[in-house]
Amino acid sequence: MSECHSILEVNQVTKAYGAVEVLHGVNLQVRAGERVALTGPSGSGKSTLLNCLCGIEPIDSGRITIAGQPLQSESRDHLDRIRREQIGYVFQSFHLLPTLSAIENIELPGQLIGMQKQERVERAHQLLKSVGLEHRATHRPDSLSGGERQRVALARAVMHRPRLILADEPTGSLDSVNGAKVLDLLEVLSQAHQIAVLLVTHDRESTRICERVVAMRDGRIMDAPMS
Ligand SMILES: Nc1ncnc2c1ncn2[C@@H]1O[C@H](COP(=O)(O)OP(=O)(O)O)[C@@H](O)[C@H]1O
Ligand SMILES: [Mg+2]
Repeated sequence: MSECHSILEVNQVTKAYGAVEVLHGVNLQVRAGERVALTGPSGSGKSTLLNCLCGIEPIDSGRITIAGQPLQSESRDHLDRIRREQIGYVFQSFHLLPTLSAIENIELPGQLIGMQKQERVERAHQLLKSVGLEHRATHRPDSLSGGERQRVALARAVMHRPRLILADEPTGSLDSVNGAKVLDLLEVLSQAHQIAVLLVTHDRESTRICERVVAMRDGRIMDAPMS
């Protein structure tokens, strides 16, 4: 039963690059719909952990469970399906496809899970509107500002109705005004669509949208009460 309430469970995860161990037995739980900030100094292993959670990097030992499904001991297809269906991603550098318009970028995750065209278009427009960019639908990323690009990326991250958003320094490339707007939207989208968020940030201000803050030091996690 406890697994039903946890969207993400990380147990004793270790990860080394070559001979250098970067994650030393990481434990972390995120409940359904919960927003958790993962803070810590540069080099402490935050991005490595996120890359392990989304399956980009294999782990050396331990266990990762997403929506009750273990990421290990499953076939590549199964792993890809969990990633495509359950997780939305937001990166510091946006990662929008440059040849697609804003609306096409948002539609893409829906396309990957086989959403019907009409539902896809309607949902993408509704999401574009919810991030305040309905007037930018046909714009390509290079004609959008940084803040606008990240708002498109947020809409894309919720398109396929994931249960968890992994966000790695989503305001890191933005000025404070646009960063605050992106954070507010991330909170609103998480609440409106009941999506848990794991927000990596080294900026204290960004933790305000989270219900819990977890600190990482030298590849280990220590729970810290929110101040
Ligand atoms: N692909 C890689 N190959 C080798 N070492 C890496 C790689 N990625 C990260 N590291 C190392 O792992 C440690 C943690 O890095 P990272 O996860 O990026 O930290 P953070 O995101 O907290 O700044 C650092 O010492 C970094 O140099
Ligand atoms: Mg990082």
